[in-house]
Amino acid sequence: MPSNLTAHSESRIQAEHLRDRVMSAEQATTFIHHDMTVGMSGFTGAGYPKAIPQALAQQIEQTHARGEPFQIRVLTGASTAPELDGALARAKGIEMRLPYQSDPVLRERINAGDLEYIDIHLSHVAQHMWFGFYGQLDVAVVEVAGILPDGRLIPSSSVGNNKTWIDQARHVILEVNRWQPLELLGMHDIYYGTALPPHRKPIPLTLPDDRIGESTLHCDPAKIVAIVETDLPDRNSPFASPDEDSRRIAEHVLEFLDHEVAHGRLPAQLLPLQSGVGNIANAVLAGLGGSNYRNLTAYTEVIQDGMLDLIKSGVLRMASATAFSISPQAMDDFRSNIDFYRERIVLRPQEISNHPELIRRLGCLTMNGMIEADLYGNVNSTHVMGSRIQNGIGGSGDFARNAYISMFLTPSSAKSGQISCIVPMVSHVDHTEHDVAVLVTEQGLADLRGLSPKQRAQQIITHCAHPDYRDPLSDYFERACHDSYGKHTPHLLPEALSWHQRFIETGTMKR
Ligand code: COA
Repeated sequence: MPSNLTAHSESRIQAEHLRDRVMSAEQATTFIHHDMTVGMSGFTGAGYPKAIPQALAQQIEQTHARGEPFQIRVLTGASTAPELDGALARAKGIEMRLPYQSDPVLRERINAGDLEYIDIHLSHVAQHMWFGFYGQLDVAVVEVAGILPDGRLIPSSSVGNNKTWIDQARHVILEVNRWQPLELLGMHDIYYGTALPPHRKPIPLTLPDDRIGESTLHCDPAKIVAIVETDLPDRNSPFASPDEDSRRIAEHVLEFLDHEVAHGRLPAQLLPLQSGVGNIANAVLAGLGGSNYRNLTAYTEVIQDGMLDLIKSGVLRMASATAFSISPQAMDDFRSNIDFYRERIVLRPQEISNHPELIRRLGCLTMNGMIEADLYGNVNSTHVMGSRIQNGIGGSGDFARNAYISMFLTPSSAKSGQISCIVPMVSHVDHTEHDVAVLVTEQGLADLRGLSPKQRAQQIITHCAHPDYRDPLSDYFERACHDSYGKHTPHLLPEALSWHQRFIETGTMKR
């Protein structure tokens, strides 16, 4: 850390030439107008702007009260928090939103059909902006931990698409958040070497630990129109301790990994791990904590509580990600031991953390949650009953498609056992059978590698389906094998398609 920027500095804005841009959040919102495209920082509840979106939501409500339109297109890294997605959705201020989201208010608005939501692979967002697919980015609103004397920006608890927003936006608004530890400086690796086709070169990263970029973000000072100082925490809720289903899922995954090592298909230190967010993922991490594995690595999207524990115990040598998603309790430990963690954690832009080239090269072992899987291994990660978005595909497609072994995990039933998560035909496809190697529920694990569709169906019914649904699924499969138009991937289409509809019609799933 530079000697003139200490953790106790009064102002985090050390660049004299930028001091005249400091203003209130309300003043900063005057740079954002109706019909603009705005790129905001934020990834899984970390590093999102906290003051400006709320001030903007107020501004939007007042404008609507005067009978005038005010809606913007909001692009982020991934999900944010109630202060951003929730506030803007409540104010009916979002015309279009991309990519991943998980805010309950925003989800309701999307599912009511009130705004356009574009669910795309997280690694695609930055390049689609460079390709010009989203038009001009009018404003970037980015949280940083501080501004160095020469104007370089210290990234905060997530990197996401910030480099791209800052590069592409006409105007940049910064939120400098004193709550973020200044000691984050040195933890990030911002790669500026990406180019557009046909000028792309290989990305020079061959180990999860490799640092290939810079520790700060650059921004043309002429573009910075406002700087707002804040002192507000990231909002990450504590994780529930793993329930019985999650623990059993974790046991099956660990047994499988042991088996792969024993058969020489994985090295003793495994391969870089990727795990989705949530309680099942945390349970797998907790399971690894009790294992004999040491010196593992993670090449993933998000560092969550379980990963910090693994780093502390030496199970994990290091972790590479694009954001933190840690509970307030874990945050206390992180702050107290930040020098230790800085040596072992690298935060990268999401086009690098989720880059298909790198995931394929490193050979990641990927573990992601899902809504449902079908008899042949197609996976629905996003839509309840085929039409209601839950969150989004996030990075699951980036990782699953390019994994060494792609695993999908879920309890075998949902809604207190009323709905099977193994179905004849998924109601929406995010990951095709070609990208799914292993399915795991609390019932067991189906290893689908090297199997034909009919062989996969047998494995999935036997090992993953809940006992209450095994007979109906077997019955469907047998009749399909007999009566299906083609016998390669047997289906009885009207019956497969009516499987979900009956839950809606019987009221199990409320409209
Ligand atoms: N049918 C109907 N509803 C279902 C269902 C099914 N088969 N499976 C789950 N649900 C419902 C749950 O009941 C719950 O509903 P509620 O909110 O009304 O209680 C909701 O869907 C969420 O399920 P839950 O089990 O709480 O989800 P989770 O926290 O384990 O997350 C995903 C599961 C799939 C939603 C989550 O993993 C996700 O968003 N994945 C896609 C993105 C991703 O993989 N990111 C990581 C990549 S790095």
